[in-house]
Amino acid sequence: MSGLSKSGLPPFVDPLNRAARLSVAPMMDWTDRHCRYFHRLISRETLLYTEMVTSPALVQGGALHLLDFNAAEQPVALQLGGSDPTELAKGAKIGADHGYAEINLNCGCPSDRVQSGSFGAVLMEEPEKVAECVASMAEAVDVPVTVKCRIGVDDQNPEEVLPDFLAKVSAAGVTRFTVHARKAWLQGLSPKENRDIPPLDYDLVLRMKADFPQLHLSINGGVTDLKQAQSFLDAGLDGVMIGRAAYHSPWDVLGAADHQIYGASYASSPSQVVQDMLPYIEAHLSAGGRLNQITRHMLGLFHGMPGARGWRRFLSENAHKPGAGPEVVLAALGQREQAA
Ligand SMILES: Cc1cc2nc3c(=O)[nH]c(=O)nc-3n(C[C@H](O)[C@H](O)[C@H](O)COP(=O)(O)O)c2cc1C
Repeated sequence: MSGLSKSGLPPFVDPLNRAARLSVAPMMDWTDRHCRYFHRLISRETLLYTEMVTSPALVQGGALHLLDFNAAEQPVALQLGGSDPTELAKGAKIGADHGYAEINLNCGCPSDRVQSGSFGAVLMEEPEKVAECVASMAEAVDVPVTVKCRIGVDDQNPEEVLPDFLAKVSAAGVTRFTVHARKAWLQGLSPKENRDIPPLDYDLVLRMKADFPQLHLSINGGVTDLKQAQSFLDAGLDGVMIGRAAYHSPWDVLGAADHQIYGASYASSPSQVVQDMLPYIEAHLSAGGRLNQITRHMLGLFHGMPGARGWRRFLSENAHKPGAGPEVVLAALGQREQAA
């Protein structure tokens, strides 16, 4: 390996690696294009991930509409699910041709549907296959290919499995990994339980950074705020990925990120973000979309602030109604401001 990233820059100068200091996790049904556009208005710097798109759906099923995104969302990474090197290479190429800044392979998702296709977290058992997949993907695209994984599955010993996985997959050219710091149990737990029940082992991920200093390692799982994220960066990790907390309280998590994590000095406010969403909402409605397809992602914007409940309730009760438009959003904002 040359030690250079695909941009030709050393890995830690690469702008995408810098963006990856903080990322919003891929979340099915949540981090769709509307959610990402909204998050991008809150943080200009954070790396955003799509929901997982399976490579069979992309390559065989023509699910190309799932790839549509707004250029303003950049930097945005496409997450693929799959385990066939040829198909993943095709999927990666389709994604890169659509303009995604990064292609990520999902090796962490435990859902039944994904297991039956033999991909997601079950790939923790097959690092050689993952290496083959990422090598084939990297061959097909010029953007970085990255991996999101767990620390192990079922009765695997993470202390052995994770270093072996990182060594084998990085030997195939991957320089950036995100590790969800808990095992996935492939039998007996629902995907939701698999995000809470297996215990977190942050320490193991920190030790991996010591063992693989050349890799860009992001930690994921249970991070609730920027302070905690910063403490992982201070401890030597290269990035922190936040999922649920970023979704449920986007302003708390992303609102100060540009300043605190990236040293940038953009100023906005939750109310300003609402105003900034209006042209996007209008364009979506003009194209035949519905208001609540966007506003469902905005319910947590005022989380923890006075008037949060009024905002959430007004949108929940009104945004799904036929003909609902920007006036509903402005009325919800009015409710919240009255209460504040
Ligand atoms: C609704 C939901 C959908 C998810 N979908 C995906 C997915 O498509 N791909 C993936 O790698 N992880 C997925 N995850 C897992 C998250 O990316 C993340 O690893 C997990 O939620 C732990 O991070 P957190 O504690 O910060 O939420 C999903 C999580 C949630 C809550």
